Amino acid sequence: MLVAAVRAVLVGLGHRTACYASYAEQNPDEMEIVGLADPNSMRLATFAEKWNIPDERCFSSAQELAAIPKFGDVAINGTMDEVHVETSIPLIEAGYHILLEKPIAPSPVELNLLNTAVEKSGVHVVICHVLRYAPFYNVIKQRIMSGDIGEIIHIHSTENVSYHHMAVAFVRGKWNRRETNPIMLAKCCHDLDLICWFNSGINPIKISSMGGRHFFSSKNKPDKSGENCFDCQIERECQHSAKRHYIDNNWWPFYSLSGEINYESGGEADEIASAKHISNNDYGRCVWHSDNNVADRQSVIVEFENGSIATHDLVTNSARGTRKIQITGTKGEIFGDMTTGVFTILKPAAVDGEEYHEEIVDVGVIDDLHGDGDLRLVQDFLNLVNGNTPSLATTTLIDSLNSHKIAYAADISMTESRFVNFDEI
Ligand SMILES: NC(=O)c1ccc[n+]([C@@H]2O[C@H](COP(=O)([O-])OP(=O)(O)OC[C@H]3O[C@@H](n4cnc5c(N)ncnc54)[C@H](O)[C@@H]3O)[C@@H](O)[C@H]2O)c1
Repeated sequence: MLVAAVRAVLVGLGHRTACYASYAEQNPDEMEIVGLADPNSMRLATFAEKWNIPDERCFSSAQELAAIPKFGDVAINGTMDEVHVETSIPLIEAGYHILLEKPIAPSPVELNLLNTAVEKSGVHVVICHVLRYAPFYNVIKQRIMSGDIGEIIHIHSTENVSYHHMAVAFVRGKWNRRETNPIMLAKCCHDLDLICWFNSGINPIKISSMGGRHFFSSKNKPDKSGENCFDCQIERECQHSAKRHYIDNNWWPFYSLSGEINYESGGEADEIASAKHISNNDYGRCVWHSDNNVADRQSVIVEFENGSIATHDLVTNSARGTRKIQITGTKGEIFGDMTTGVFTILKPAAVDGEEYHEEIVDVGVIDDLHGDGDLRLVQDFLNLVNGNTPSLATTTLIDSLNSHKIAYAADISMTESRFVNFDEI
């Protein structure tokens, strides 16, 4: 049992790690940052200054940090998806508990490698399924557990990815290739995790999926569009204008400005420097001239061993990004839209004159893409490594295997046009 502040090393110094590390700023008695690792020297220097970390505790990779005698209790691993496993295994072997970003691994082979390393080591590896901690979903889970809607018959969830989020991450951005980042895994492993969590203890048996890339494709290129938004005749009338998104509105700076411009230092990158930077990097590209090949719509159907069905729809190019859920049980149903912070419980009425009884639940959190789950997750992770009982939401590696396997299966099903049995994965 740890008694002092938990000593954390930060691995992969991007915006996700910065977000989780901010917990230490607000709660210095609970978490202390003691070491850093990133091959990007600019990020390393910025984080070292912010957290006052001496040179001998700054490393150019997770592997290098893990190779010296252990000097922290936990590692927060916010590296990119494709290096999660190779960076985590040495840290696990060195005895660090890990808070690991999702998706865990790009393939079932790597997922199993990590799982074997965790089983051998006895350390905790918690996956950043932040939505479990969002009050919207956490209260829904509590109502399911209390038996409010009976046994689950059907779950339907939707993720609406906004047009600007889709453009920055999955068309122009770093998750735009299906071979390395199938979108159902990269974006919707959260939703698949929620489905498995609501249905906990019940295994999936069969998966089917359809989808593809049909909209963000060169065949929809308007006349007169340029290859780059900074050299385009119709830029002002285009909803996907990089200038409008990243310069005028300053949306998504941690993607469009990461690299040369040190936006993490807190200094406002000025407009001219930003424009120069973005016009020369991938984020200035026209969405119709990009090299993306991930699906821009995809639906998944999952059959569980008790006969219940779950469906998840990924819909992109939405005007407003949100997530919606409808869960139908033997005694009632729950439906809601996460960004409103409100869900409704309907129960068939057993009294004369009423068709159903309606209860509206307002969790009081709106307008946060993660439903205010990020720092609640960090708190829960610290609670676990301090030896306390896991919470309802605690999402260890073993709890996250099914959702990831559904995502791998969905990609196979979509590309091979066939059902996939869960035990194939
Ligand atoms: N939980 C969520 O809802 C959520 C939301 C967005 C992104 N993510 C995930 O968070 C992760 C991080 O995303 P990001 O945009 O902050 O990443 P990023 O690309 O900004 O940062 C990753 C950092 O890892 C560093 N790195 C690469 N190899 C390394 C190594 N061997 N050792 C140490 N560091 C190394 C890179 O230099 C880079 O600075 C991704 O897996 C992403 O999918 C999760």
